[in-house]
Amino acid sequence: MPVAAKISESVSKSSWIRRMFEEGLRLKAQFGNENVFDFSLGNPDLSPPAEFNDTLKALVEKNEGGVHGYMPNAGFDGVRAAIAERVSKEQGVDVQGRHIITSCGAAGALNVILKTILNPDDEVIVPKPYFVEYGAYIDNHRGRIVLVDTNPDFSLNIDNIRAALNGKTRAVLINSPNNPTGRVYAEKDIAALGALIKEHMESTGRIVYLVSDEPYREIVYDGVKAPSILKHCRQAIVVTSYSKTLSIAGERIGYIAVHPGCAGVEALLGGLILSTRILGFVNAPALMQRAVARLGGVSVDMSVYKNRRDLLMSGLESAGYDFARPEGAFYIFCKSPIPDDVAFVGHLQKFNVLTVPGSGFGGPGYFRIAYCVSEGVIQRAAPKFREALEALKT
Ligand SMILES: Cc1ncc(COP(=O)(O)O)c(C=O)c1O
Repeated sequence: MPVAAKISESVSKSSWIRRMFEEGLRLKAQFGNENVFDFSLGNPDLSPPAEFNDTLKALVEKNEGGVHGYMPNAGFDGVRAAIAERVSKEQGVDVQGRHIITSCGAAGALNVILKTILNPDDEVIVPKPYFVEYGAYIDNHRGRIVLVDTNPDFSLNIDNIRAALNGKTRAVLINSPNNPTGRVYAEKDIAALGALIKEHMESTGRIVYLVSDEPYREIVYDGVKAPSILKHCRQAIVVTSYSKTLSIAGERIGYIAVHPGCAGVEALLGGLILSTRILGFVNAPALMQRAVARLGGVSVDMSVYKNRRDLLMSGLESAGYDFARPEGAFYIFCKSPIPDDVAFVGHLQKFNVLTVPGSGFGGPGYFRIAYCVSEGVIQRAAPKFREALEALKT
């Protein structure tokens, strides 16, 4: 066999998002781009803010010797200090540059963390629906994913997490604002989770981390605010990226922020730095580190996503779909009008509307609509969503 059995099996089971993306290419070739309504990918379509391009130009023009060379694996000290200042404000906990490790996006950061903290068969509790790559990331580092149900409105169910904690648990991995549901976890639930982890650590003597994956922290609506994680849990590690806030997902830049008061903080930081090196990242991209350090507070215009969300919600509502109003990110997790979400997503395809079955996120009975598409696409897709629903009744 040319590739390992595990990889061969994973390739054959390629993710739903990937499958829908490929289906989109096929439909676009057949019907033309403007006649296919592709809501399958969470790939930000907005241009980065002008400040990003200006900063890059200025950085490139400087062209100082060694500027593109190797650096300490955790990143440039000045960049880490600038990020720490922002994290301290955002999280309400004083973080120093040494508690920041720059990363190749949130995906790179998660792999660095899991490599650093997992022993074989250690368990990572993940509330579902969830970002499906977590399963692969945890498996990469020989851990086991343990999925727990959220409440019917997709808020955290602390009792379910309590029931899943045991002597093998190494981490609870949460994502808020959530992909695929758009739910922002409430401050009272984050506080309860922090207390639960503390209590579990005290009773077992075992370190358990709260890993908070938050690339959508700044994409929130209607005055909702994603609560601080570090304030409510000393054993927390925050992960993020600039992929969505600056619309630069292909540039692979993000960071890890470790609570300065977490048990074993020095060993953890040393491990994260080593993992960054030996996983093959070596360090986060130099140019992007310098750019984002200068762009604190700059982001794409979030009102664009809000307008799209509102437009999509009104089209879906008037057609008769049922969904929980998203508080953040750029996804609507809509109830499938028939129990089989895979079949319904197949049905929508007949109307050239591409979405992803909830089953692909551990949320069967739903489908995900990613609104990283223009308002024009949303407007033109609205009658298709309606026709698809009406066709079920005939
Ligand atoms: C919840 C979540 N975590 C992590 C990632 C990976 O982010 P990045 O591309 O910045 O590594 C994504 C990307 O869509 C995501 O939705």
